Amino acid sequence: MSQRRRGARAGAPSTIGIVGGGQLGRMMALAGYPLGLDFLFLDRSGDTPAAQVATSLVGEFTDPAMLAELARRSGVISFDWENISVPALRKATRGSAVRVSPPLRALAAAQDRLSEKRLFDRLRIPTTHYAAVNSRAALHRALRDIGLPGVLKTRRMGYDGKGQAVIRTAADADAAWQAMGAVPLLYEGFIPFDYEVSCIAARGRDGELAFYPLSRNVHHAGILRVTAAPWHDVALERAARRHLRALLTALDYVGVLAVEFFVRGGRLVANEMAPRVHNSGHWTIEGAATSQFENHVRAVAGLPLGATTPRGHAGMVNLIGAVPEKSPLLALPDVHLHDYGKEPRPGRKVGHVTVVCASSKERDQQLHRLLKSLYPELSGLL
Ligand SMILES: Nc1ncnc2c1ncn2[C@@H]1O[C@H](COP(=O)(O)OP(=O)(O)OP(=O)(O)O)[C@@H](O)[C@H]1O
Ligand SMILES: [Mg+2]
Repeated sequence: MSQRRRGARAGAPSTIGIVGGGQLGRMMALAGYPLGLDFLFLDRSGDTPAAQVATSLVGEFTDPAMLAELARRSGVISFDWENISVPALRKATRGSAVRVSPPLRALAAAQDRLSEKRLFDRLRIPTTHYAAVNSRAALHRALRDIGLPGVLKTRRMGYDGKGQAVIRTAADADAAWQAMGAVPLLYEGFIPFDYEVSCIAARGRDGELAFYPLSRNVHHAGILRVTAAPWHDVALERAARRHLRALLTALDYVGVLAVEFFVRGGRLVANEMAPRVHNSGHWTIEGAATSQFENHVRAVAGLPLGATTPRGHAGMVNLIGAVPEKSPLLALPDVHLHDYGKEPRPGRKVGHVTVVCASSKERDQQLHRLLKSLYPELSGLL
């Protein structure tokens, strides 16, 4: 690997530097190797999912020396999660030839729920009613203006439903303020959605666009548990693609972008966007002609995008806490296991399984069977 890296053509982005070495980065590397791409990660630990398959620098995400080294050794820099420092990355790459893709303006918008909502508003993408909350008085004003129930969220650093509280009464609001009030917050109306979907798209350097079919997503306690795709709804898909196209164009985006939507009464309400590959697109590894990971690395490396055509009906179940015993899982037909190589920990995403079937009926049956054996408490979710 290091031999190839030394031999990389000057100026050719054959090494992709990635800030963050989680499972998303690992799957990017695994998708990029067949294309002859190399990867260099930066993460706080030397034993990340990505470090198990690629060279990794160990240091803080804000460490100027580490970021400068990443920039020096890479043709392009990307990231596998959004809670990293935009100013530090901007500073480390200013004046150098290295690109950052997706662009920092997309990262900045997505990592602050308030700027994300404002961007949705600016592009006329329907979203929840919301208000910034920086004081107890502002919270009570927001409750009055937006109403109950609602969800109080930290503006930054949230993932897997962390940093959120559902507010049903004024007493809930006071308790949540006590627990969360130390940081800037956002209050938004609770959407009694019929279900949730996400739309994932890629944009190349030359503006080429590729859209995956809609995914239907089931969350439990704030964590994505199951995805089924393609989710066939022509009108919803058309609307979702219009919204993604607006975002991709306005941000002059390069790479994969995901937007999560609530669906209520046949209409989309944008929840949030992720300027990266997304958990609801893991099914594309086996379930689409080109995976979201491959299309992301193609886009950031300046290569043409691959076809997003589905290869059947895919279902994905996240493995949470610990990877279950592998033999019974792998003995099932059409099951693909992805073990991220992480230490077990309650609530942690440690892997996923995907099934790809000839029909949606068969896929749903397989998903039911999988859930019943892995997480019987969730069998009612589908
Ligand atoms: N306003 C809302 N109304 C109804 N449900 C909500 C609302 N906000 C969040 N939820 C539920 O909680 C889930 C997680 O919320 P959200 O996407 O904001 O969190 P997150 O921590 O950023 O998650 P991740 O980044 O892992 O997707 C949503 O997918 C949805 O199921
Ligand atoms: Mg979310």
